[in-house]
Amino acid sequence: MLRTRTQVGIVGAGPAGLLLSHLLALRGIDSVLIEIRSRAYCEARQRAGVLEDGSVALLREAGLAARLDRQGLQHGGIYLQFGGERHHVDFRELTGGRTVTVYAQTEVVKDLIARRLADVGNDAIAFSVTGTAVSGLDTDRPRLSYTDARGVRHEVECEAIAGCDGFHGICRQAIPAGLLTTWERDYPYAWLGILADVPPSTDELIYAHHRAGFALHSLRSPSISRLYLQVAPETDLRDWPDDRVWAELSRRFELPGWTLDRGPVLDKGITPMRSFVSAPMRYGRMFLAGDAAHIVPPTGAKGLNLALADVAVLAPALDALLHGDDKPAAAYSATCLDRVWRSTHFSWWMTTMLHRSPGADEMEAQLQLSQLRYVVSSTAAATSLAENYTGFAVQPAAAGQLHRTRSERGC
Ligand code: FAD
Ligand code: DHB
Repeated sequence: MLRTRTQVGIVGAGPAGLLLSHLLALRGIDSVLIEIRSRAYCEARQRAGVLEDGSVALLREAGLAARLDRQGLQHGGIYLQFGGERHHVDFRELTGGRTVTVYAQTEVVKDLIARRLADVGNDAIAFSVTGTAVSGLDTDRPRLSYTDARGVRHEVECEAIAGCDGFHGICRQAIPAGLLTTWERDYPYAWLGILADVPPSTDELIYAHHRAGFALHSLRSPSISRLYLQVAPETDLRDWPDDRVWAELSRRFELPGWTLDRGPVLDKGITPMRSFVSAPMRYGRMFLAGDAAHIVPPTGAKGLNLALADVAVLAPALDALLHGDDKPAAAYSATCLDRVWRSTHFSWWMTTMLHRSPGADEMEAQLQLSQLRYVVSSTAAATSLAENYTGFAVQPAAAGQLHRTRSERGC
């Protein structure tokens, strides 16, 4: 057993854990970051694609946006398609210039990993660990244990632990039963997503309501498209050969005079849909961030943005805690949950407005269509969608004060 020390032990090298370790380093705080998957797996896992302005500003301020600024695609709106018509919702006009940026989560993760390795060296992240455990969470010296890829067992004494280990991780489960309140909703559908080697057939994302189910046309670059289809949760990918996927996408996006271009499918996967919130996001000296504490269905493109916003609040809170001030850490959970519940509601609202529930009657379809017509015809309703989709400012104290000054650090 190798016994070591650090200031913050971070479990999980997804967007939340990676960004947290970087934000802490900017404040002169050491961390140990461990991850059960390999680097290649983390960098290839296809997930989200849309960054809010606040997330872009945060990454830029943290010095992580060189490639994002070159390759990210700024979008000033989306299309809502229903009843055989496609309507543009113009975010710039409705919100005084706010936009979103299409830049895949895989690229955010690659940029973060590259930066940690460049700043710290190959030991910055322990990939492919097993047997992760956390203990002593209600003491001043919680411990993080794991076995590294060579089979060596480690016990790291920390001053705080960050559980950034996603929905299925071990950190939330380490909180004693009865201390957490959880809220959960499963949806009776899933998304089948494809990544395709074909230029997007659209200039903006298309969210389509269709009697056969929801469809989304997104993109990754001027030459790569990302598309999703609503399917049953128990869907077997073997029942969906590429031709069937393309035919169903063409049917759901059908519009006179418009065609969906097809290309080789590079990746195909199923995403379940769930809303989940657990509170509080702190137990003793362990803090949960990102999917470890909350999950939203992907329709509002919020999951990645929430994970980044959590750690923007957590980094200064940990900094204060490690310097003897518990106040920001005490406020961490409530501060994050305010944004989390807004995004949870927005994601639920977008999801239920656009998907067809199995066995839904004509009444439900008419209510959805009425809501969609209202959104595209009322400035008030469209503005509400636009400001939620583009997102709200990340904690000014977090985004504006990424670096502690030398005098604040006591230098
Ligand atoms: P994660 O990205 O899940 O990272 C957690 C990390 O912890 C993982 O790398 C995991 O391997 C690691 N880990 C787990 N257990 C342990 C352990 N015991 N020890 C060490 N490490 C551990 N959001 C959108 O906005 N749009 C989308 O289209 C979209 N699609 C998605 C598709 C899928 C299949 C999934 C699962 C999520 C999707 N999301 C989407 C959500 C979004 O990707 C997440 O909200 C985001 O990844 C959250 O980041 P995170 O760092 O909190 O968690
Ligand atoms: C993407 C995913 C989403 O969930 C969404 O609402 C928009 C875009 C994407 O993967 O590009």
